[in-house]
Amino acid sequence: MRRLFAFLLSFSLLVPVPTAAQAPETARAQQGMVVADELFAAEAGIEILRQGGNAVDAAVAVAFALAVTHPAAGNLGGGGFMLIRLADGRAVMIDYRETAPAAARWDMFLDQEGNLVPERSTQGWLAAGVPGTLAGLDLALREYGTMTLNQVLEPAIRLADDGFPVSDRLARSLQENAETLRRDPESESIFLHDGLFYEPGELLKQKHLARTLRRIAQKGAREFYQGSITREFVEASKKGGGLFTLADFRNYRAVVRQPLRGTFHGYQVITAPPPSSGGVALLETLNMLEPLLAPEDLPSEPQTLHLVTEALRRAFADRARYLADPDFAEIPVAALVDKGYAAACRRNIDPAHASVSTELKLPNPLDFSHSPSEPAGAAALHESENTTHFSVVDAEGNAVANTYTINNSYGSGITVDGLGFLLNNEMDDFTTKPGEPNRLFGLVQSDANQIEPGKRPLSSMTPTIVVRDGETFLVLGSPGGPRIISALLEVLLHRLLFSDDLALAIARPRFHHQWLPDTLFLEEGLYTGEQIAALRALGHQVDFRETVGQINAIERDPSTGELYGVADARRGGAARGR
Ligand code: GLY
Repeated sequence: MRRLFAFLLSFSLLVPVPTAAQAPETARAQQGMVVADELFAAEAGIEILRQGGNAVDAAVAVAFALAVTHPAAGNLGGGGFMLIRLADGRAVMIDYRETAPAAARWDMFLDQEGNLVPERSTQGWLAAGVPGTLAGLDLALREYGTMTLNQVLEPAIRLADDGFPVSDRLARSLQENAETLRRDPESESIFLHDGLFYEPGELLKQKHLARTLRRIAQKGAREFYQGSITREFVEASKKGGGLFTLADFRNYRAVVRQPLRGTFHGYQVITAPPPSSGGVALLETLNMLEPLLAPEDLPSEPQTLHLVTEALRRAFADRARYLADPDFAEIPVAALVDKGYAAACRRNIDPAHASVSTELKLPNPLDFSHSPSEPAGAAALHESENTTHFSVVDAEGNAVANTYTINNSYGSGITVDGLGFLLNNEMDDFTTKPGEPNRLFGLVQSDANQIEPGKRPLSSMTPTIVVRDGETFLVLGSPGGPRIISALLEVLLHRLLFSDDLALAIARPRFHHQWLPDTLFLEEGLYTGEQIAALRALGHQVDFRETVGQINAIERDPSTGELYGVADARRGGAARGR
């Protein structure tokens, strides 16, 4: 199937494509588009657009609906980033990343010998940060939407109350994660039917979650942060050995941040600033590659893969050295996304040999001030089956790229007693032990990302919007932890440089390198023996993984406003237009 699709697509576009993922779901429309990981949530967004809501209203409705229909990642108990670009060109990112509770300590996941206690940063109450999702969605709606919480919550409440038919994918996912869900009686009773697996087509009703959503619709976000939901949450945390206090919730704030901006071959790339590492890494890699790759290069050539890998290796080394919550650490963001700094990093890329990650020598970014002529970095203040990403564009051209998460699938596995939503395990995104990789993504990170009370853990979520001729052109993002960065980079190269159609840009095989481990991961079964041998001959340690990211994207024709939605087939999402 994958190969057949690749053949048909390459034939239709007259582009040679050796292999690619299976056919993505696509849609074309004029009045609005939602591309999300799950069908009912995408339809909830379209319903809100039909009622006259704008892209932000629709995005908030999609986020609430995913909290019901995509429990592995959609959430009330986690956090994320919403990048908004309005039709008038203003852009902001709403940072609703979780924060460490006030009682959290840098060594809370270590035993007395200083060793990481297995699973402590990923399972149970200690693994969770203060959830930011509701604060973020509420802020987005109040500042940039046109509807009330009550209106945009309506589809989610209906889906939770009446239930929705479990898809093949959800049935499989619940089975695959049964061990995690079984550890918590509340999770087991809701998601495993008290011990029996859901069959595809069966209705999943979530009465506790419906009641929580209704309470929020009636009383507002305050009910979650300073109300009876807070009290019930903190009570459950105490029983479960967690650290949460009422003050942790009262003090939580979603933050409006200025997005990062860069340029690539005449396009403007607007993307996520810290505490995401994604925007910095994306701009750094695009800057390094801009003069190295040409439109006539083949994306599947080992030489192309080699150069992109070397750029990723360098950007991830910088991620490990510098990046963290900007409210707690000094980060040389403007220098890291400076084209002069990229040129200096590029100088030690050997076109004929892979670098060795542990021997990599990178320049000091502080030696590079960004050029005033470049609209780079933080200086550009004046415009914009873990994690899940969705993209929304409305008829006026307002655009939202939203990535949010409870970290790995079903987060910590805990459903808060009586409240019906799963709790994140985002604390594992901190540097849980200095010098050692974190548990879920194997990322080595610096002391700047150590646990501190009230701090946000470093993320890789990278909602991104590309602008052409002053108009929104692409809206995209992905789940996948650090693989988000590789997936985004490669799709942008395919679309912006190699001029693939968006569906092909997303369907092409992908790969990932994150500095450490010093391994080039290729999507399994999508690369030829010759490509793999050539990469090994260049010195890369090649390994395989099933997928790299899941891109849900919208392309907007800047001259006609026509919208083209593409849901990556790797996990199977939904593109819905109107
Ligand atoms: N929880 C994964 C990330 O934020 O990168």
